[in-house]
Formats: sequence, C-alpha cells, structure tokens
Amino acid sequence: MRIVVAGGTGVIGCHVVAAARDRGHETVVLTRSTGTDLYAGTGLDERLTGAEAVIDATSVQTVSARTSVDFFRTVTQHLVTAGRRCGVRHHVVVSIIGAQEAPFSYYAGKQAQEHLVLDQPSGTVVRAGQFHEFVRQTMARTKAGPIYAIPRMRSQPVAASEVAGLLVDVAEQDPQGLGPEIAGPQELTVADMARRVIEHEGGHARVIEVPFPGGFGRAMRDGTLVARAGTRLGRLTFDEWLADQRGWRGR
Ligand SMILES: NC(=O)c1ccc[n+]([C@@H]2O[C@H](COP(=O)([O-])OP(=O)(O)OC[C@H]3O[C@@H](n4cnc5c(N)ncnc54)[C@H](OP(=O)(O)O)[C@@H]3O)[C@@H](O)[C@H]2O)c1
Repeated sequence: MRIVVAGGTGVIGCHVVAAARDRGHETVVLTRSTGTDLYAGTGLDERLTGAEAVIDATSVQTVSARTSVDFFRTVTQHLVTAGRRCGVRHHVVVSIIGAQEAPFSYYAGKQAQEHLVLDQPSGTVVRAGQFHEFVRQTMARTKAGPIYAIPRMRSQPVAASEVAGLLVDVAEQDPQGLGPEIAGPQELTVADMARRVIEHEGGHARVIEVPFPGGFGRAMRDGTLVARAGTRLGRLTFDEWLADQRGWRGR
C-alpha cells in the first residue's frame, strides 16, 4: 500500500521509511527538505492522494509550550483534514510514554496532538519510550566544555528501528484509537547512557547529573517516563545498539 511518512527524514522517520519499503509498501516522504512544509499545509492533497495510511513522525525543537502546541496542533490538523479529503484510511502518530502526565513544555504539544488524533475515527496513537538516539540529542544540548550536565532522568530507551516496525504493523491494521506502547528491554538513567557513549567513543568528557526542578523534574525521576504494565518491550539493548554506532563521534 502507499504510506505517507510525515517527518520521514528524522531519527525515527528514516526507520519508518526503511521498514515500510522492506515490506513492499510505497512511501511518500513529507518534510520541508523534500518540499512540503506541513506547518504551512499547502499542496497536501496532491501528496496524500492514493495513500492508505499516514504515519506522522514530525517534531519541533523547542522549549516553549506555546510553540510545541502550535506546531503539533497545526501540523496534525493539516494532515488529518487533508487525509479525510483524500480518503486516507488510517492516521498513525508516534507519541511518548508519560507525556500525558509529565508537565513539560514539549509534551504539551504531544498532548494536543494526541487529543486531535484520538478524536478521529481514523486515528491511532502509539506511545514509545525515549529512543536510543535520545541520549545523543540530549548530549548535543548539554555540553559545557569538557562536561555534560545531564538531567537526572529514568528512561527505558528503545531502538527507533523497533518502534518504526511497530508503527508500520499498526498502519497496516485498522485504526485503534489508543494503540500499543513500546519501550526498551531495560531501564537506564540518561546520565549512564551518556557515560557509555563517551566510553564507546574513547572520550574523556565528564558527565554530571543535574536534578531538573519542578513537576517535570519529579516525573523524570519517579518513573513516569518508563514502561508500565502492558507496555511491549523491544529486544535491542542500549549497549547492543551502541556497539553498532561505529561511525558516530560524540558531540
Ligand atoms: N526522540 C525520542 O526519543 C522520541 C521518543 C518517543 C517519541 N518521539 C516522537 O517521535 C517523533 C519524531 O521524533 P524524532 O526525534 O525522530 O524527530 P527529528 O529527528 O527531529 O525529525 C523531525 C522530522 O520532522 C520534519 N519536520 C519538522 N518540521 C516540519 C514541517 N514544518 N513540515 C514538514 N516536516 C517537518 C523534519 O524534516 P525537515 O526539517 O526537513 O522538515 C524531520 O524529518 C516526535 O513526534 C517525537 O515526539 C520521539
């Protein structure tokens, strides 16, 4: 079938495209770099015509709740509305375990996105733990000279490739509303992941753990963001994933 992958060049989007193609699906990638700005929302009918499913893996880098809500609400509304016009059968989004409970600016946008998708008969929300790649994204934002100041955070990281496989499985099925959750096989702290990355790269930078203040800090520490009863567990451990990352030099 034809699957539209919104955000198909991002960390998970690339894996979604690969997984869908491996199974013989035709993919259409919607990103600004491939000529479609989903925030502007123009020209979507042309790209969505003939598609059976949309998998939305877009994201915005922001620490502003207003920007996050505006981005996810606008992009989701554009995709859902155009999808309805074009007869798209299934709209799947990837969300985050705990984003509904934890008071964090970025998560406010994910909550808005979930509400919109769960309101659609064609919608399915798949919630995932942090991807193994999340530690890279965090390290890039928290380096100060030879030190990484990493927020104290419990996580159950999962391979983006395994989440992508689940998203394609789900897209092939009927809409489910709230769909499956997936996390990785083991719980780690993000600081521990960063130390393993530095060791893997033969680096000497130090990692210090910084408790994040307020309600989000509590949610990061109290297990709100890790797997709960019924969450599926991926198989690829963080160390197995890291061992395969030969080309990456820590930033
Ligand atoms: N990272 C994690 O650990 C994690 C865990 C669970 C769930 N998630 C969720 O997974 C989704 C993807 O996250 P990610 O980390 O893979 O994101 P990412 O690597 O930052 O990729 C974002 C993608 O969105 C596209 N995009 C951004 N703005 C766009 C616009 N205006 N129009 C069209 N495309 C746009 C980007 O391409 P262009 O820049 O070319 O437009 C890119 O392909 C997010 O919704 C996130 O909440 C992430």
